[in-house]
Amino acid sequence: MLSVKPFHLPIVVEDIRGVVKNKTVLSVVAGVKTELLEKMLPGARVVGAMSNINAVVKSAITALTADRSADNEDRAVAEEVFRMLGDVVWIPEEYMDAFTALIGIGPAFVAELIDALVLGAVATGMPRELAYKAMLRLLEGTVRALEETRWHPAILRDLVVTPAGTTIRGIYTMELRAVKAALMETVQQATKRSIELGLEISNWLNKNMKNK
Ligand SMILES: NC(=O)c1ccc[n+]([C@@H]2O[C@H](COP(=O)([O-])OP(=O)(O)OC[C@H]3O[C@@H](n4cnc5c(N)ncnc54)[C@H](OP(=O)(O)O)[C@@H]3O)[C@@H](O)[C@H]2O)c1
Repeated sequence: MLSVKPFHLPIVVEDIRGVVKNKTVLSVVAGVKTELLEKMLPGARVVGAMSNINAVVKSAITALTADRSADNEDRAVAEEVFRMLGDVVWIPEEYMDAFTALIGIGPAFVAELIDALVLGAVATGMPRELAYKAMLRLLEGTVRALEETRWHPAILRDLVVTPAGTTIRGIYTMELRAVKAALMETVQQATKRSIELGLEISNWLNKNMKNK
């Protein structure tokens, strides 16, 4: 299993190149495509994975991709491994960079949002501990409501909005500050960075392979 930071990958590949022929290689390295790994590790059968830090409480959602060298047995092994960390979904590799930006690093974005909302309550005078505890339950409850009712988020929002009430004032503020556009941009920028990382490593490899 390859689970080093992308910039360490070339060093690790040098170390393992000789021993992975005819073996299954699982990679969680962000931005690096299975095609590139197969080029770096001749003879290895590669499954790409993108999980997230929620694995620490077995609540990750991991995307797996294996449209190239991996066979059914490799796919079964990968699925068994990542099921230990939470849910698993199989996706085409073309979605991997966006999945990385939305889900692989998503817990960091959600943590920022939680922190910001809690600080807002603190700014009104609410004790932090109370705001934080209530916020976590709020998230849990909202996720359950969306999952169990299968409502689109806009339906849930409209059910809370009262004409001239508090919710619409808050939503108007979010719109004035372009919060939604900022979040959409966040995922797009992070996706671009994931693509860049893949290209940087690919370029490094091509350069170094020519020098051998
Ligand atoms: N963190 C996340 O939430 C997340 C989410 C999705 C995907 N990923 C991907 O997961 C991978 C690992 O991320 P991470 O956050 O777990 O990184 P990390 O905490 O820095 O862990 C990297 C590990 O690689 C080891 N390592 C470094 N150089 C090595 C070498 N030459 N040979 C063998 N082992 C070496 C490090 O060992 P030492 O500690 O001894 O240096 C460390 O245990 C990355 O590719 C990242 O893109 C991470």
